[in-house]
Amino acid sequence: MPAPVGLQLSQFALDVADGLGRAGQKEVPPRYFYDDLGSILFEAITLLPEYGLTRADERLLGSHSDAIVSETGPVALIAELGSGSGRKTRYILEAALRRQREVTYRPIDVSASALEACERELSNISEVQPICADWMEGLNEVAQNRATDEPLLLLFLGSSIGNVKRCEIVEFLRHIRWNLRAGDFFLVGADLVKNEQRMIAAYDDPTGVTAAFNLNLLGRMNRELDADFDLRSFVHEARWNSSERCIEMHLRSQRDQVVHVGEPDLRVGFREGETICTELSHKFTQAELISYAHSSGFDPVTMWMDRTWPFVEALWRADER
Ligand code: AVI
Repeated sequence: MPAPVGLQLSQFALDVADGLGRAGQKEVPPRYFYDDLGSILFEAITLLPEYGLTRADERLLGSHSDAIVSETGPVALIAELGSGSGRKTRYILEAALRRQREVTYRPIDVSASALEACERELSNISEVQPICADWMEGLNEVAQNRATDEPLLLLFLGSSIGNVKRCEIVEFLRHIRWNLRAGDFFLVGADLVKNEQRMIAAYDDPTGVTAAFNLNLLGRMNRELDADFDLRSFVHEARWNSSERCIEMHLRSQRDQVVHVGEPDLRVGFREGETICTELSHKFTQAELISYAHSSGFDPVTMWMDRTWPFVEALWRADER
């Protein structure tokens, strides 16, 4: 339903107005992928044979969680940006609990259903205090409400850092650092640059799950913003941008058309072939990650790499400033 006249527009409507109303490349921020259906489709993506990221992340955590917590020492609080279902986090929590009696886990996610799944998955091993919010809002709440002397381990797994625009990564990491105290730890999972065909296939699988995940963004605008997108007149596209070193996901209009978005009462014209950019998924080198750590107030501690699907878990310590 559209917002009745006089009521404030939702952040979703404002972001859509900004992203689709612009003169150049149209875009919708990727955080709007994750409604209930989008979260389920993302979980399905993680099972695709072509999408090696999640399995690499899981292999690394499965093999190195004890090493990770032996670097951090005891942590009373583990928080996670974009936890999803929390399946991979089990390894870290179990490793922490082999060294200490208890730990509180604070998953932060915009999807209430993902947080419910996370609670189901992990509440039998530790106290789970979910925060349904976007990353920075959730991290702010963690920072405000922690006890004075408890060290924190913040997780940012699955290469979600890759979905931040490259020119904004350092600022984004500085913002995270600003919410931490010297001596806190940050574990970031990052997908590495690899063979182009392999990267493209991960975002354009033959089963069509990623296409459904992408098109669901239009479906979500229809459901929540009273838009009238014809999903059959857009197609999913994944391309490698070699200068930015990222996979770009787009939705390409198959014909000239005008779409109406009820909230915020916007008419958007599309030419045949014109696209909406829905996601950038950056890929990294190990050297680049080390330089990001130094530029944003962290000391890199160690990095663990998966060779089957080049991917790293990088552990950083918030520096003294
Ligand atoms: C959540 N994020 C790290 C995924 C990625 O690989 O960029 C989202 C995704 N988009 C398409 N497939 C997966």
